[in-house]
Amino acid sequence: MDGASNPVAYPGGGDMFCGKQRPGIYRQLSTERRRADVVADLRFGRSGDLHDAIHLPVVLLPPDRGIAVTLRILVDQPGGFDDDSNLWYHSIGSYSDLGAIVWVGGISPQPYVNLQRKETLNRRVMKILVTGAAGFIGSATIKALMKKGYEIIGIDNLNDYYDPELKLARLASTGIDRATLTAEGVAESDTYSGYRFMRLDLADREGIDKLFDREEIDGVINLGGQAGVRYSLVNPYAYIESNVVGFLNILENCRRHPVNHLVYASSSSVYGMRSDMPYRESDKTDTPVSLYAATKKSNELMAYAYSHLYGIPATGLRFFTVYGPWGRPDMAPYLFLHAVMEGKPIRVFNHGDMQRDFTYIDDIVEGVVRVLEHAPDGEDPHRVYNIGHSEPVELMDFIRTIEQVSGKKAIMQMEDMQAGDVVCTYADTTHLEEDFDFHPQIGVEEGIRRYYEWYKSYYK
Ligand SMILES: NC(=O)c1ccc[n+]([C@@H]2O[C@H](COP(=O)([O-])OP(=O)(O)OC[C@H]3O[C@@H](n4cnc5c(N)ncnc54)[C@H](O)[C@@H]3O)[C@@H](O)[C@H]2O)c1
Repeated sequence: MDGASNPVAYPGGGDMFCGKQRPGIYRQLSTERRRADVVADLRFGRSGDLHDAIHLPVVLLPPDRGIAVTLRILVDQPGGFDDDSNLWYHSIGSYSDLGAIVWVGGISPQPYVNLQRKETLNRRVMKILVTGAAGFIGSATIKALMKKGYEIIGIDNLNDYYDPELKLARLASTGIDRATLTAEGVAESDTYSGYRFMRLDLADREGIDKLFDREEIDGVINLGGQAGVRYSLVNPYAYIESNVVGFLNILENCRRHPVNHLVYASSSSVYGMRSDMPYRESDKTDTPVSLYAATKKSNELMAYAYSHLYGIPATGLRFFTVYGPWGRPDMAPYLFLHAVMEGKPIRVFNHGDMQRDFTYIDDIVEGVVRVLEHAPDGEDPHRVYNIGHSEPVELMDFIRTIEQVSGKKAIMQMEDMQAGDVVCTYADTTHLEEDFDFHPQIGVEEGIRRYYEWYKSYYK
């Protein structure tokens, strides 16, 4: 258990820890929210087990030396939790040293027993909710969190804005097999025991409330939502539901169940039609030119208000055109690559006179995880950062690189600028570099080569 707890011989004989120890959860709570120095989790498979357990002795040793201990009893039930008994707080009081121990007698099957100490928190045992788990950035972020040993809950409504098969395949790449999804859309990863997925809509207020009531969530990465600039002209309500109502549900729950850090997706589109480059976080962003951008700016304002009012540490990330393996099929990098591979014409907007700050997915994920692990503090713990490669690339150069990598010729169909689109986006990432030592590693040539290799293997 990462040295988090020390089993000590129980006076009555036998091990102090019964049941299987597993990496667990300890919330790092700021002073005002602090409930305990040590949290003991007893996790049961079924509520029936808990019924037996509460009549059995639970002993916390050794005696008081000033450390506050909270004992939590949690019940996992396939398909949901028993609301009456899922979370039973019992403040045991003050106990000794961080080597505090728990003994539970005679329970069958034995519960998971878990003792955590504060210092272990940031290392690897936080429970992170990732929304948009089947999405491009969400699924890649989950893979990185898995490598770091976090406990992860992923949610996604698996909508059909683009091919849901791609979303299911991304889930499969994180060990969530569609065949094991229950009728409620719940499954455990078969490659990583710390990851569970749930099909859930961010706009489903009751569902999101229940999720937060049930789970002790330490951090949230909100990557779920309605993406795409052009589609916001077609289906504006989808943006309000997912990006505004859905985000409010996340914020409300971060208020009801304080989290260490909420990291959420914003977008370079908040900069609107600004022509002065590069975009800096201090630039004015109050003239969005699409409803999509307006919802992203709203997210920043909503998060700021909640941070200010309730002290929720929150960081918004303004992503700049992300591409790479498992990329979104509605975005230019995919559309270009796909058209070249299929020998079909590419629609090149603004007659090719466009620049984008194409950012490789691994660099984005590296940035998201770095940010997650360092929550802002202070009076209003809210920050917004640009996250991009910080090197504008001409659209035509991007297409030529695809031609080189694939060995195929692009057929280009020149078109006018689309309503709501902007000519150039290019990030100043100085703040992210300074605060998180963030330095993108993958240039456009290498990025397109990797994207092309993935494309060939996925669409073969
Ligand atoms: N990819 C980029 O270049 C880029 C650029 C700027 C901003 N962003 C933002 O980053 C976030 C992630 O982007 P992405 O590229 O991974 O997009 P994506 O569409 O691949 O992922 C979003 C996921 O959220 C899910 N989703 C949508 N509405 C939902 C809802 N109401 N409830 C639950 N799940 C829902 C979708 O099914 C999808 O799987 C989005 O908010 C997007 O707007 C992305």
